[in-house]
Amino acid sequence: MTELSVNVNKLALLRNSRGHDAPNVVEFAKKFIDLGVKGITIHPRQDERHITRQDARDLGNLIRPLAGIELNIEGYPSEEFLLLIEEVKPDQTTLVPDLPDQLTSDHGFDFHTQAEFLAPILDRLKKTGTRVSVFLDPDLEQVELAAKSQADRIELYTEEYAREFNSPKHAEVHQRYHDAAVLATKLGLELNAGHDLNLDNLAKFVTIPGILEVSIGHALIIECLEYGMPYVARQYLAICAASA
Ligand code: PXP
Repeated sequence: MTELSVNVNKLALLRNSRGHDAPNVVEFAKKFIDLGVKGITIHPRQDERHITRQDARDLGNLIRPLAGIELNIEGYPSEEFLLLIEEVKPDQTTLVPDLPDQLTSDHGFDFHTQAEFLAPILDRLKKTGTRVSVFLDPDLEQVELAAKSQADRIELYTEEYAREFNSPKHAEVHQRYHDAAVLATKLGLELNAGHDLNLDNLAKFVTIPGILEVSIGHALIIECLEYGMPYVARQYLAICAASA
C-alpha cells in the first residue's frame, strides 16, 4: 500500500511571511499525524526560505518517539545538508539535484554524470541509518544506473505525469512511469513518487504497482484551505488505502 507523506514546506512559508510562529509547523505536522498521516516531509533550502534547520530538528524530536511515523528530509546534498541529516537522523533522506535559487525541484539526478558525485554521499548517509532515496525521472536507463548505486529507493518525479493528466499524451506518459516502476522493483529498488500530485490525479497514479510513498505538499495545502484539513487528509488516506 502507498503511504502519504505530507510536505509541510508551505506552512513554514506562511509562517515566515509574518515573522511569528504561526502557523506552528510542528503543531500542524502533529495535526496531520492525528488524522492518520504516517509521514511528514520537509525540504529545507539553503536560504531557509520556508523550512529552517531548526524546523528539521523540532520535527525530528516530534517524530522520533512515534512508532510507525516517518520523517523524510529532502534536499540537495551539500555539506550543510549532510550535517543536518547526521544530526537529525530522519527515517528517510531524499536527494534532489536542485540549485539554491531554484523555485522548486524540476528534474531528477542524472546517474550518467552524477554517479561518482553521489557514491560517497550515499555511503556517508547509509552510515547514519537513514533510508536513502534519490529523485529520478521515469527513465529506464536512469533506473538501471540507480539500481547499481547504494540507493535504497528512488522517488519518481511526477511533474510530467501531473501535467499530462487527462491530456492526449496521458496514456503514453502513464505507461512510462509504470515501466520505470516495474523495472525499479525488478532491480531491487523501492519506490516513492512526488511533485504536483493532487486529489484529482493521485488515484490513477497509485494504480502503478510498488509505489510505497507519495510526498505531497503544494496542492494538498491548497486543498486544505478550500475543503479543510480533516476532509483532505481522509480523502488522501482513502486513495492511498485503495492503491495497488
Ligand atoms: N518531491 C520533491 C523532491 C520535491 O522537491 C517536492 C516539492 O518540495 C515534492 C516532492 C512535493 O511536490 P508538491 O509540493 O508539488 O506536492
